[in-house]
Amino acid sequence: MYYPEELIEEVRMKNDIVDVVSGYVRLQKKGSSHWGLCPFHNEKSPSFSVSGNKQMYHCFGCGAGGNVFTFLMNYENYTFPEAVKQLADRAGVKLPEVEYSPEMQQKANKRARLLEVNKEAAKYFYYQLRDTHGQIGYQYLKKRELSDETIHKFGLGYAGKNGALLVQYLRQKGFEDALIKEAGLANFSERGGLLSQFWNRVMFPIQDSNHRVIGFGGRVMGDGEPKYLNSPETPVFDKRRNLYGLNFARTARSGNIILCEGYMDVIALHQAGFTQAVASLGTAFTSEQASLLHRYTENVLLAYDSDGAGTKAALRGIGILREAGLTGKVIDMRPYKDPDEFIKNLGREAFQERIDRAENSFFFEIRVLEQQYNQNDPEEKTKFHREIAKKLCEFKEEVERENYLQAVADKYHIAFEHLRKLVISYASQTGLVRPVERPKSGVQQKNKPEENAKRAQRLLITWITDDPGIYPKISKYISAEDFTEDLYKRVAARLFEELERGEYNPAAIISMFEDEEEQREAAALFNTNLPELTTVQEKEKAFHDILLSVKRNSYEYYASQMGSDMNALKSVIEGKKALEELARTRISME
Ligand code: GTP
Ligand code: MN
Repeated sequence: MYYPEELIEEVRMKNDIVDVVSGYVRLQKKGSSHWGLCPFHNEKSPSFSVSGNKQMYHCFGCGAGGNVFTFLMNYENYTFPEAVKQLADRAGVKLPEVEYSPEMQQKANKRARLLEVNKEAAKYFYYQLRDTHGQIGYQYLKKRELSDETIHKFGLGYAGKNGALLVQYLRQKGFEDALIKEAGLANFSERGGLLSQFWNRVMFPIQDSNHRVIGFGGRVMGDGEPKYLNSPETPVFDKRRNLYGLNFARTARSGNIILCEGYMDVIALHQAGFTQAVASLGTAFTSEQASLLHRYTENVLLAYDSDGAGTKAALRGIGILREAGLTGKVIDMRPYKDPDEFIKNLGREAFQERIDRAENSFFFEIRVLEQQYNQNDPEEKTKFHREIAKKLCEFKEEVERENYLQAVADKYHIAFEHLRKLVISYASQTGLVRPVERPKSGVQQKNKPEENAKRAQRLLITWITDDPGIYPKISKYISAEDFTEDLYKRVAARLFEELERGEYNPAAIISMFEDEEEQREAAALFNTNLPELTTVQEKEKAFHDILLSVKRNSYEYYASQMGSDMNALKSVIEGKKALEELARTRISME
């Protein structure tokens, strides 16, 4: 633990989980909880719940869960100390300086310093754009029809013609030459010493999803080469794992994300109100970026250039999206080259129409294929049909495959049975389409005795946290030792100890664990689906059954340990007594 527990608790209590999560997920109050779409998996109806009482969240769909720290760790990819720091800042709690190992300190320092120098450089470029020397840059952006508001929102700037000035400025701010160089902001030259890497370019600060500047793209004024110069990869700039514009797009909530090729496309789209637009960072779209997008949406609309290179990139992108489990559609930009030009010429309504009419990625692929075969030549046409059949075989699910088969046959006027035969023949040649293997049914697993025992233990903890008043009535029958899973035991020990003192603080218990997996498991303990019961009698019976089941399991567990563990004997004798007594007792819920 990096900070004293009380301090962590203070930070946690000053950050209401409903407030914090609301900054990321749209929540609606229903009953005693708030509900929304889970940000950790894809879903259409809300199974993500946040409880103000428990100060915890839990997703009934994917099992994600925890307290406010866990949420930030998962959502922002923070470490535990980073999450604590962020929330301390948010609530105005001062944290003491932390003692890291020298190695960790160095690494953390390096990252922090790189972010600082980038931020400072972004400021410098930003002011340059407003300086008389920067007029050429400002005019360039104006010519491209960017409003002052847009320029401000994206923090656009200008790197002047005198490459020594940026370095001077950064040195003045206390940054060492080595750091400036490592950030990719400047290079040593024989004649001029350390000089800015960017020279006479409008500057696009690239931000991570937390609005931290991690690198830059710089566009040349006019027609120079290279058109765009990007910062090199640094410890804070990972081009495979970030997307331009995602810091804004992730809260756009438009039900989709538009993936473009260029920074200017993203900016033009945002200016036109499509704040869900992002672009990769001067490199091809990666599977890491696809998983990143998967956190926010299921639907990605590709708005790539309408030229050959753009089409090729789109085909590649579709494959990557598909592998990440995302649905890809393609926006037709013709007759314009890219979204920026399209919007300038036809405006936002026309673009919205193109969004609405975006082409399913499968049909896009088929359409591209179609162009490669001369449809007037019977032989080429047959080849085209074979290619379609081959593509259809990529659908592993029969229903889906059949649906697409029907649709594509209709669209291209191919006889359904003919195309179907081609699919079957292709599939049997290659063995591509196999019967889908169904995952083993969950029921079997649930029926395992261990799983049942664990489930009863979880139910008991959830029940007690939902209704802490019940604890005094059962405390003489139950103890932490009755929880056979180690993590459960630790949670129960802490919970019961708190309840003895008349406290009640389940979210604090999660902070006992630093490991995310453990936090998730601990949170699940407090968020089991309790049976929905209406009458007092039903409730009493259900609760009694759960309690008895936990007790019996514990008794059996210790009984099985008796041979090897002398302490178990005591537990067994006491357990048997408690079990018998419990079986005769009515625990009143009135
Ligand atoms: P504008 O001419 O400013 O409208 O450019 P664009 O937004 O239409 O971009 P383009 O389609 O030319 O390129 C798309 C993206 O590819 C850019 O945003 C850059 O990230 C990247 N890119 C373009 N040109 C270069 C280059 O010369 N070098 C590198 N490394 N990346 C480039
Ligand atoms: Mn363009």
